[in-house]
Amino acid sequence: MHAIDIITKKRDGIELSREETEFFIQGYIHGEIPDYQAAAWLMAVYLRGMTDREMHDLTLAMAYSGDVLDLKDVAPLVVDKHSTGGVGDKVSLVVAPLVAACGLPVAKMTGRGLGFSGGTVDKLESIPGYRTDLNEAELKAQLSEIGIVLTGQTVDLAPADLKLYTLRDVTATVESIPLIVGSIMSKKIAAGADAIVLDVKMGNGAFMKTLEDAEALAEAMVLMGSRVGRRMVALISDMNQPLGWAVGNALEVQEAINTLHEGGPFDFREHCMVVAAEMLMLSDKATDANAALTLALETLASGAAWHKFRDMVEAQGGDVRYIDEPERLPKAGLIEPVPAPRSGYLASVNAAEIGKAVVELGGGREKIGDPIDHSVGVIVHYKVGDLVQKNTPLFTIHANDEAKLVAARERVLAAHTFSDTPVHRLPLFYRRIAG
Ligand code: URA
Repeated sequence: MHAIDIITKKRDGIELSREETEFFIQGYIHGEIPDYQAAAWLMAVYLRGMTDREMHDLTLAMAYSGDVLDLKDVAPLVVDKHSTGGVGDKVSLVVAPLVAACGLPVAKMTGRGLGFSGGTVDKLESIPGYRTDLNEAELKAQLSEIGIVLTGQTVDLAPADLKLYTLRDVTATVESIPLIVGSIMSKKIAAGADAIVLDVKMGNGAFMKTLEDAEALAEAMVLMGSRVGRRMVALISDMNQPLGWAVGNALEVQEAINTLHEGGPFDFREHCMVVAAEMLMLSDKATDANAALTLALETLASGAAWHKFRDMVEAQGGDVRYIDEPERLPKAGLIEPVPAPRSGYLASVNAAEIGKAVVELGGGREKIGDPIDHSVGVIVHYKVGDLVQKNTPLFTIHANDEAKLVAARERVLAAHTFSDTPVHRLPLFYRRIAG
């Protein structure tokens, strides 16, 4: 078999066999297929798509490209959640400790920023000392001791995704249903969770721009997980404006901490409660949606979720002084509130543009290996439908470079549009798809 023949077949829209997909994935992770051929194959998949069977083969080839964890000796039922990627999406930072505080073991392997979307690993690394590179033995020990782990993907788990994820980020091949299914579901299968809630984002700040595409992605992932015996639910949620107020690594950690103390933005808190409730129901901790929501709210109010977060940070080497007093977290040198250019109802906030502004400020990567500035970001002060008064602060930029601040100010201003007549608020969720 030759890589060039597989690329040619895919380019011409011909279905690949399971052997060909396995050959390609194995060849790539062992360095026999170079990045430039993998990039060509990714683009061919992006343009031609994949059949259901090819997607299945790809997911399993990626999942079994490394170790597959079995957590049964540590916990009888492990729950996980995964987002398809958005702007201001710090949900895992609240939901994972909340659900763990309800007594459900949570082992989550989380990723870095991808394109304009942020990554939980980058956010957690704003906390000095926090380790995102736990190995399997450390992960299991921590899961058994405190019932929660939020770490980066280990080199041994789904290594094909680890390599392809980075390549997709710089070859404009992120927004592809089969590649996202392969990426997310291979990690979930390899990481050993029994019950998985997927938060599938839809809108201008998501990889899926339409409800139709988000549904296709959600259905494909739910089917994939159900076929390999996982309990699955997917929620399709709105990403036509940033989630919460903060976009940027340390700023988002601070907002998550506020939320764990029952503060934070209303939309973000509500979103977290719904995702947590789904995780509780999927793992039989609650019998219906009302009971699950009540349990989630009570656990937040009791402070148990915050304590679980703190235990996790401590267990993973993080300096808890930075989360006890979040004003210690990395802070930008230039903080500029930007006034609204006019009065009116906020009609739209382009979340992808805000994500891109944060990447340009240094909060994300423009190319492989770029360092991250954890302190920079944007805080939006209004939600779609809010009435805004001219000259009140519309958003605040946190920057460390004057020229970058000016560029971000222009981009974020252009991302806001106004209407003279009232505008409907955006829903948080559109659909629920169960396995
Ligand atoms: N999150 C992932 O883990 N992979 C993708 O491809 C997109 C979002």
